[in-house]
Amino acid sequence: MTESAVSIRGLYKIFNDPDELGLEMALAGAEKDAIQEETGAVMGLSKVDLEIARGEVFVVMGLSGCGKSTLVRCINRLIEPSLGEVWVEGDEVTAMDDRALRDLRRNRIAMVFQHFGLMPHRTVMDNVAMPLEIGGVARRERRSRAAAALELVGLGDWGQSMPRQLSGGMKQRVGLARGLALDTPLLLMDEPFSALDPVIRRDLQDELLTLQDTVQKTIIFITHDLNEAVRVGDRIAIMRDGLVVQQGTPTEVVLEPANAFVREFTQDVRLHAMVTAGSIMDSSEAALAQPTEDRYVVRESTVLDDLVPAGLAATKPLQVVSDSGELVGVIPLQLLARAMASDEAATAVATEG
Ligand SMILES: Nc1ncnc2c1ncn2[C@@H]1O[C@H](COP(=O)(O)OP(=O)(O)OP(=O)(O)O)[C@@H](O)[C@H]1O
Ligand SMILES: [Mg+2]
Repeated sequence: MTESAVSIRGLYKIFNDPDELGLEMALAGAEKDAIQEETGAVMGLSKVDLEIARGEVFVVMGLSGCGKSTLVRCINRLIEPSLGEVWVEGDEVTAMDDRALRDLRRNRIAMVFQHFGLMPHRTVMDNVAMPLEIGGVARRERRSRAAAALELVGLGDWGQSMPRQLSGGMKQRVGLARGLALDTPLLLMDEPFSALDPVIRRDLQDELLTLQDTVQKTIIFITHDLNEAVRVGDRIAIMRDGLVVQQGTPTEVVLEPANAFVREFTQDVRLHAMVTAGSIMDSSEAALAQPTEDRYVVRESTVLDDLVPAGLAATKPLQVVSDSGELVGVIPLQLLARAMASDEAATAVATEG
């Protein structure tokens, strides 16, 4: 049996709904505005079903107020759902008593927020160790685990500094280290990088992915930025007014938007920054059987952007290899040309060359 790391089934959250009139309307399929107008209740989540696999980076995205924070807070019941089930690693969170819930929050789920929430009068090390302290971990072990977490985020030398001595990006790293120090299988990240400037933000996105190769956690990552979603997510759920309107891989969401809302959202994403060689290659037996000399070799994970220089010069097909160097597919010249033409900017470059 392969159970999901997190399973969300028929989840509803209606705020300000003492008589459950709003819930009743939501169950009947009413939209957020209608419910609010009629009953004054606010629909946070409606009919949310998600299965999140172990080790997956699952992104939840959507505009402000669509229900992202409500969703992650229902996972550890910082917010009490109105209806539905949440399961974490085979245990039903929505059925847990206080004691089980405390254990869940201490040992199984860590959270990283947008605003670092660092205590100004405590050292970086003590800030990172704080959740361990709350969890009753002995001082020595606390310090060694906090030090290891700081090392992971590249701040091994900063343990004795005070938060005010750090830049915004470094503070966010401390926040991340605090989430990692708990060593939980599940990490919830609510807009962790949104307060950072774009360059530092991109660095941290990359670092998170590198880190994930080592720690292999299940990460639920919230953002309102599709470019960030596409960069860090294995899969993405797009929310609107409390509903999940589409879920899928970044390529699926961008190339096959479920409706006009998602299309509008996705049109600004640069295809070339996200479509990988692996997703457009021909991996049929016939393709793999062709002679392999005299081709460019690219990795499965290489994005189109990085293929363009090879593609421009390309007079031969590209050979796609896995991380372990195994041949997994071929990109014939026509296929490469077609993929590149799907992005206007690149078409311009291609015709110039
Ligand atoms: N405690 C509350 N009481 C009443 N309404 C609430 C409460 N918390 C959230 N809401 C409402 O529920 C909806 C979803 O809010 P939520 O905070 O989950 O949105 P979000 O997607 O995280 O937005 P943002 O990007 O601004 O963080 C919003 O309409 C919000 O006003
Ligand atoms: Mg939020």
